[in-house]
Amino acid sequence: MNRSVRKTVIAGNWKMNNNRAQTKELIGEIAPLVKDAGCDVVLCVPYTNLETAVDAAAGTVIKIGAQNCHHESAGAYTGEISADMLAEIGVEYVIIGHSERRQYYGETDKTVNLRTKAALAAGLKVILCVGEHLAEREYGITDEVTALQTKVALSGITAGQMKDIIIAYEPVWAIGTGRNATSEQADHACAAIRATVAGLYGDQIAQATTIQYGGSMNAANAAELLSKKDVDGGLIGGASLKSKDFAAICGAVN
Ligand code: PGA
Repeated sequence: MNRSVRKTVIAGNWKMNNNRAQTKELIGEIAPLVKDAGCDVVLCVPYTNLETAVDAAAGTVIKIGAQNCHHESAGAYTGEISADMLAEIGVEYVIIGHSERRQYYGETDKTVNLRTKAALAAGLKVILCVGEHLAEREYGITDEVTALQTKVALSGITAGQMKDIIIAYEPVWAIGTGRNATSEQADHACAAIRATVAGLYGDQIAQATTIQYGGSMNAANAAELLSKKDVDGGLIGGASLKSKDFAAICGAVN
């Protein structure tokens, strides 16, 4: 982290977990534990829990995000939710391009780009996910893969819009596996992504861009990962479902 030039953001990705009662309860538990956190705190919850979460987080430091949005504002897209619909109910963030969306629902760098543009147009902040598969790391092309994903995702996005973009470096092999990237691997990859952003928008914007690490980050490894210069926070799956673990990760920022 370099807190003098960019924000540190810890975001929970609940994935398809928790009902409304559990949402209210968990946010009620987390809020007092993170009230003095030295970072921005975001929880990305399932669509059906968004209104409950926005209400439960009101008056706390916690901001609420969704886990996806469609690129059109309305239309014949059965089963989809638009960015405008999210903004209307007080959602402030949205995850775009999570590897589970890419892997199971056919999302591509192109759809990630379209969705990112739509989210920004609706006034949402985007947590844009990039990351390599294990085979790509083994071939030694991690930096090329994240550069390609980042460049396509940011195509057509202006320098002025970059203040609403957080990039999450999430190596696919580390997600939900209990096998996190080492802090050196995370720092290297986040620095490489920052260099890609610098190539697109210049060094000042690259230095101001928050780049998170995600993939089996937990209460035990967060401090080490977050101690690295180019790791500006975390996108947390499993450990965001337990109040004490998530709060400990937020606390590790200090
Ligand atoms: P994990 O998930 O922390 O459970 O590995 C991270 C993510 O998918 O964002």
